[in-house]
Amino acid sequence: MKKLLFIGDVVGKNGCDFLSERIYDIKKKHEIDITVVNGENSAQGNGITKFSADMLLRLGADIITTGNHCFKRRDSMDIYNRDNILRPLNFPDGCPGKGIGYIDCGYYKVAVINLMGTVYMEALDNPYGAMDRILETVNTPNILVDFHAEATAEKKAMGYYLAGKVTAVIGTHTHVQTADETILNEHTGYLTDAGMTGPEESVLGVAVRPAVDKQRFKYPVRFTEAQTPCFINGAVISFDEKSGKCTKIERIIDR
Ligand code: FE2
Repeated sequence: MKKLLFIGDVVGKNGCDFLSERIYDIKKKHEIDITVVNGENSAQGNGITKFSADMLLRLGADIITTGNHCFKRRDSMDIYNRDNILRPLNFPDGCPGKGIGYIDCGYYKVAVINLMGTVYMEALDNPYGAMDRILETVNTPNILVDFHAEATAEKKAMGYYLAGKVTAVIGTHTHVQTADETILNEHTGYLTDAGMTGPEESVLGVAVRPAVDKQRFKYPVRFTEAQTPCFINGAVISFDEKSGKCTKIERIIDR
């Protein structure tokens, strides 16, 4: 039995700093073997930079996943030359980077796939077709999918589609953790959204005041990172490394 720690969207410098304070204890407490972190908003001012990616890797992320903000910081595009930093699989052919990475654990390995939804989001390639094609190439039963998507229905549907085919489907992007963790088809761990790692009293990590002003007055507003105490949201997925079967999924909120 092995345990994978998935950390929900790390937001900004405060999120990175708080994660650095706590991750060692979390890994120890849950006896973690593998760590995957969604880092698409880990840079100060959003997106992901070489600096924030390096920090997450130093903290022990085996693979960093991203999402719709993956190419926001054009000065850091070359991070996608690395095998352990992913962008969503269904971006158009020719985009830098790739949507699948492998963690080599010696006698077993884990494939991590980063996929993006298309409901209320950029019209990328159909995520179902993209998954069908990539799964034909994967030669390990241990497969984690970070499905970066807005709509809960799209995430639920993908969870059922991949039930029995992958070890776990974990949603990201909304920054709000859902309480629907389950195991589908007695095989696939599922959670609609892992939530976020960053300032808790905030609007998705952004300071409350500018976020409210934007909603209320509809004028352009410069968002700033909230400076309130942080929390860590994520999930621990226990799985049998021989069959790829998830045996337990547990949400975590660490303050
Ligand atoms: Fe996102």
